[in-house]
Amino acid sequence: MLIVTKVRCEYKENPIGISLVAPRISWQLLSDIRNCIQMAYRIQVSKNADFHTILWDTGTSTSSQSIHVQLTGLHLQPKLRYYYRVKVWDQSGAESAWSSRAFFETGLENPQLWPAQWICAPAVQDMGHSPRMRKFVNIDKAVRSARIYATALGLYELHLNNQRVGDQYFTPGWTSYGKRLQYQSYEVTDMLKKGSNVLGALLGDGWYKGYLGWKNDKAMFGTRTALLLELYIQYEDGTEDQFMSGPGWESSISAIVSSDIYMGEIYDARLEREWTDSDGWIPADIIHYRKDIIVAQENVPVLQQEQLKPIALFQTPQGDTVLDMGQNMVGWLRFAIQGSPGQKVELEHAEILDAEGNFYRDNIRNAAQRIVYTLRGNGLEQFEPHFTFQGFRYVRLTGFSDKIQLDHFIGVVLHSNMERTGHFECSSPLVNQLHHNILWGQKGNFLDVPTDCPQRDERLGWTGDAQMFVRTASYLMNTAPFFTKWLRDLKADQTAEGGVPFFIPNLKESFSSGWGETDHSSAAWGDAATICPWTMYEMYGDTLLLQEQYESMKKWVSYIQEQGDNPYLWNTGFHFGDWLALDSEPGSYVGSTDIAYIATAFYAYSVSLTQKAAVVLGKTEDSEQYRSLHTKIVEAFQNEYVTASGDISIATQTAQVLALRFGLIQGSARERAIQKLEELLHDAGDHLKTGFVGTPYLNPVLSECGNNKLAYKLLFQKDYPSWLYQVTKGATTVWEHWDGIKEDGSFWSADMNSFNHYAYGAIGEWLYRYVAGIGPDENNPGFKVVHIHPHPGPGLEWAEASIKSMYGDIISSWRKTTDHKMTVSISVPANTEGVVILPGAQRTELLEGVIPAEQADGVKRIEAVEQGVRLVLGSGAYHFVYPQSHT
Ligand code: BGC
Repeated sequence: MLIVTKVRCEYKENPIGISLVAPRISWQLLSDIRNCIQMAYRIQVSKNADFHTILWDTGTSTSSQSIHVQLTGLHLQPKLRYYYRVKVWDQSGAESAWSSRAFFETGLENPQLWPAQWICAPAVQDMGHSPRMRKFVNIDKAVRSARIYATALGLYELHLNNQRVGDQYFTPGWTSYGKRLQYQSYEVTDMLKKGSNVLGALLGDGWYKGYLGWKNDKAMFGTRTALLLELYIQYEDGTEDQFMSGPGWESSISAIVSSDIYMGEIYDARLEREWTDSDGWIPADIIHYRKDIIVAQENVPVLQQEQLKPIALFQTPQGDTVLDMGQNMVGWLRFAIQGSPGQKVELEHAEILDAEGNFYRDNIRNAAQRIVYTLRGNGLEQFEPHFTFQGFRYVRLTGFSDKIQLDHFIGVVLHSNMERTGHFECSSPLVNQLHHNILWGQKGNFLDVPTDCPQRDERLGWTGDAQMFVRTASYLMNTAPFFTKWLRDLKADQTAEGGVPFFIPNLKESFSSGWGETDHSSAAWGDAATICPWTMYEMYGDTLLLQEQYESMKKWVSYIQEQGDNPYLWNTGFHFGDWLALDSEPGSYVGSTDIAYIATAFYAYSVSLTQKAAVVLGKTEDSEQYRSLHTKIVEAFQNEYVTASGDISIATQTAQVLALRFGLIQGSARERAIQKLEELLHDAGDHLKTGFVGTPYLNPVLSECGNNKLAYKLLFQKDYPSWLYQVTKGATTVWEHWDGIKEDGSFWSADMNSFNHYAYGAIGEWLYRYVAGIGPDENNPGFKVVHIHPHPGPGLEWAEASIKSMYGDIISSWRKTTDHKMTVSISVPANTEGVVILPGAQRTELLEGVIPAEQADGVKRIEAVEQGVRLVLGSGAYHFVYPQSHT
């Protein structure tokens, strides 16, 4: 049995409104035999759902490629649905049936020449209200299909005949608005009716015009919200029609008195009107605004993802009425309420209670996160906000009646609709809670851009945080479309010299972060330019994105090269350093690892990644240049920082970790650094002192360098500072500071103390890649070759992880049995190969069920290696049992 499944176009299931660039098709194979390899594929594309006329047929194409097959031969027309299907042959000649039918649909031919006009409502905006825009559309024929293409300056929400259009939120998403603006496409065929239809839009300030940054600053990208829209209809009789934003549109106020990402929403339900209402409408203004920056939607949309019920309602010692959601979450509270007309209720959102159990929101700083709702007062009414989101666990309720019903509140979790790919579980409930917290860090901070935190007046696409977490994020969820969009913004926002802003999308030029002389290019932050595209390549085999970002990677490297007088060291400029590390004086934001050391280490690393990208892209000359540049940086690094006796002159944990992780030292210097790291950790009572820069690599380096037990020791520490310290303090997401809450219950500080900051959650990569042992292969990316090398360690009886890779499900699970055996169960998807290391095994002892492993079907090679037994396997599920030795 050979089946083609999960057919996707540009990572998406049946996308509509894609750009006219030849899309890439990916699929997965399911087979009941081991060692299944695709020998050939065939793709057919048709305009008809029944494939009556074939537009394009690859014929039987001899190839094992089953991801990112680009339909280069197909000449795409705009606004057209293309059905496609795939079949494959395996190496035994078995032929699959056709996959189930999938489709993609193209969007506008040239969004930059869009004949629709920008419309806005200045009078309404001046009042602070969110404008409503509308147009009546008369239809007198049967509709075959209808689409809306829309974008906005600010945020928009569409309504057609009083129904919300689509399920997306925060459209058109956050891009570097001055340079790139996405439009969305909606299928609305069934929402239209014969006769008069009313098409409406609500506009919100969003990231474009609302508050952004921590200086109470507004209107980072523009001062007026506006809408650009086209309704395109095809009738049954073959004719078509278009209704564009422009003349004939009207505007009026909405019940949204104000709505702001940070501040929350003020809503007066007494102002609600039907879209067809005749009062208070005035003609919309037409404005001229550029369209040459408009692109089709790239990221997956933000959707309502899950709903949480509050777990408690209580009175604080100070007498506040507070709801507890049981989880630090991002989104909003939907509530139902009954009361009198004009009654006002208020909901304030906070992450944490203080030591006395009182509602605490000082760490949210200027982001009010406040919902004020004025009741209509005619029965049970329900509300959820529109253009704002909150990061919270606790909600203070005011103005509600005495009898508050818990089931009238629902926490609505919103984030980018990334497929959940990673699952991890082990014998330690605390570690499982840590994994849960990491996952929720991603849910909360992947709302269209990767943010540092989702609650205070920041919520920015900090580059450093993104590069620290990108590998973990890409285990947990499919992040490819998410980072594709963000990296395009990074590229667009890079300075002419190649500098990378501190956050992407960057804010307006007049906004000064106040750090350093320029608002760009800190080491370990700007390196997001190389690390993120390379991670996408490793995890998803996305060569096209690598190619797209290659110039940006090069520019970043040449920017560094130009700094200072030594082209091989980076010892100038402002850097955040090992942010929040614990090895400098108490209360300091910056750890004690020399910033030039960190900068030079990352310089070497970025050059090495750019060199690898050059090899992948066949740029031989570049690759040679980067290779020699890398050698010189490493030489300069060693001259500068390695003493005559072979020690690293910077005696911090992070310094050892970076040199080891980036391969900057060899031979005895490497051995000494491994030893030094161990010593430094022991000196700290087997505790870490690393900050944002060192922490993500700490445990991987330990496991890689023969010190896996120490990595486990760090993982299992429960006192400060450690990952589990916060878990034992009741954390449900990952904290910004190791001591966000101190042992005595007090807080680190009020001004910089997020309880949902994913940076230290980068330990997630270690759980998947080392504890469970699933790793990609940079020479066969996207898990075409799957590495499975579990690293059992003291404190865990078992662990298992699975990831949904581009090729299918990968599973690795190990367990120490009571009779001192180790069992390892793995699964390698069809059309891939597994390279497996069974830790602590000896070749003669392997059993797979009752068959000796070497005779088992699918096993291609087996050999004894230092760490155990190494097997090369064809696809399939395998189960090994062997006596447990030194684990
Ligand atoms: C953010 C960080 C960021 C840092 C720069 C903070 O305000 O929250 O996560 O990376 O600034 O060091």
